[in-house]
Amino acid sequence: MKELIDHIKKNEQTYIEELIEFLKIQSISAMPEHNDDMKKCAQFVSDKLKQAGLSRVEIFTTEGHPLVYGEWLGAPGKPTVLVYGHYDVQPVDPIELWENPPFEPVIKGRKIFARGATDDKGQLFMHVKSVEAYFKKYGSLPLNIKFLLEGEEEVGSINIEPFIKSHTDLLKCDTVLISDTSLYEKGVPTLTYALRGLSYMEIEVTGPNRDLHSGSFGGAVANPINVLSEIISKLHDKKGKITIPEFYKDVAVLTKAEKENIKRLHFSETKFAKDLGVAELQGEAGFNTLERIWARPTLDCNGIIGGFTGKGAKTVIPSKATAKISMRLVPNQEPNKIAKLFTKYIKSIAPKSVKVKVSFLHGGSPCMIPLTDKATISATKAMEKAFNKKIVYMREGGSIPIVNTFVKSLKASAVLMGLGLDSENLHSPNEHFDLNHFQLGIISSALFIDEYSK
Ligand code: BES
Ligand code: MN
Ligand code: MN
Repeated sequence: MKELIDHIKKNEQTYIEELIEFLKIQSISAMPEHNDDMKKCAQFVSDKLKQAGLSRVEIFTTEGHPLVYGEWLGAPGKPTVLVYGHYDVQPVDPIELWENPPFEPVIKGRKIFARGATDDKGQLFMHVKSVEAYFKKYGSLPLNIKFLLEGEEEVGSINIEPFIKSHTDLLKCDTVLISDTSLYEKGVPTLTYALRGLSYMEIEVTGPNRDLHSGSFGGAVANPINVLSEIISKLHDKKGKITIPEFYKDVAVLTKAEKENIKRLHFSETKFAKDLGVAELQGEAGFNTLERIWARPTLDCNGIIGGFTGKGAKTVIPSKATAKISMRLVPNQEPNKIAKLFTKYIKSIAPKSVKVKVSFLHGGSPCMIPLTDKATISATKAMEKAFNKKIVYMREGGSIPIVNTFVKSLKASAVLMGLGLDSENLHSPNEHFDLNHFQLGIISSALFIDEYSK
């Protein structure tokens, strides 16, 4: 493996130059005006898979953005690894807060800045390059490899789900390898063993049939914004618990081993609060910050729309108000079931003075990966070798909705070998990726292929 690692280190500059080309493509999945960029990006990724040495590469069109598939099955009898990642990125707004334009990548020190640098172009590219290095150095791989790269992760992975379910033979594998999560800390090899799921809801409250003068009518009819705020305020109690009946029923409790693992990490809540610029942290009573983020379900209002929001003042009682509310779920909560409980509860607390419509926008299941799995053991060895440090196991508060579908439909295990950092501004201005982690990720990927083939 020494020659392979040396080859990866020697080619760093080339890999970075190719990543820059990848990052220049404006593959924002949420914006229809970027549909052509999505196609261009799928083509770019597919060209890179061919260049890496895969024997079959195909772009599958969907009702949304294309899926890119690739395979090399030249190691019969050996395990098969399926690499999953996403080539789509989040919108760039607020654009004025970017120090450099989001699609004109720049390198400052050992960091590359661009939308998608860490989430997820930089991370998925690590696996493309490790496979390429393998073929360049040895002419073959010690196991079989498949890639399935999607362009809709940031908009809820709608079309990949039926594709997986209807292509289980094509995608058949022993484990799914994913780099789309974070390291616990800079330079610390990390494997994530659980992700939170999601139920994303919208509440629309309608009061009077038109906007009203707040002087002529104020005090006589329910104000939809006031009512909506009241509804939102009733969703948590004083101890930070969510009040929806039966909400916690399926929540898996933290095991003693998990609690001890968290203690050993010596997470500093003071540093965390200071970094976020808040005087005090808050959350569900009885749990520390990492437990709250990793292992407890939460409910947050993500946006609220209604009334007059322009400059200055306007005296009005609006006819409508809307709130976007997401709930992060943990094993074994189910997004559909939670959406139903939410809807029922909101309807039950809404006053008769307004009409309330509740919609389920999208969801994703949580997932939990056993640490005893063969693929996890191989990934542990690979990352410990690459970083020359002991592994940290952690859970993740964010979601990758499709992981659970892979595991269930393909009866495969999963490895969450994320090389990002929570501080790398994913979904936010000045997103970046640490180039040391980029190289360590390519090496970890190569070492994983070696370990898992044994
Ligand atoms: N890569 C992230 C998931 C993630 C977030 C990993 C934070 C590590 C830290 C993924 O691309 C993402 O943004 N997921 C969305 C899913 C949603 C759009 C369904 C999320 O978690 O909000
Ligand atoms: Mn991602
Ligand atoms: Mn994302």
